Amino acid sequence: MNHTDTQEWVDIGSVDDVPDNDVFPVMVNGRELALYGVNGQVYVTDNLCTHGAAKLSDGFLEGHEIECPFHQGRFDICTGKALCEPLSDDLKTYTVRIENMRVMLRLD
Ligand code: FES
Repeated sequence: MNHTDTQEWVDIGSVDDVPDNDVFPVMVNGRELALYGVNGQVYVTDNLCTHGAAKLSDGFLEGHEIECPFHQGRFDICTGKALCEPLSDDLKTYTVRIENMRVMLRLD
């Protein structure tokens, strides 16, 4: 393994498979992430809620906010910011870019 690389880009799928104003789970190098499509833009966050054992991909997406299915905590998917109680910890977000019609995700 090359530890001199500070970042690694991973191909996580075709842009054609990005959901339309929806979210679904993706496994990337053993991590379960949530992939969102909002108005043609792609966002990726951890899929596990920071409050409990809920998957955000089972939640309700409204604009750039995902609502947890367990206790209705809401996160901003652009920044990962926890927007309301009972959440206290922000959500990890990932940098993505589109390259040759593929969605590339930066792992750090
Ligand atoms: S598990 Fe997500 S808000 Fe409680």
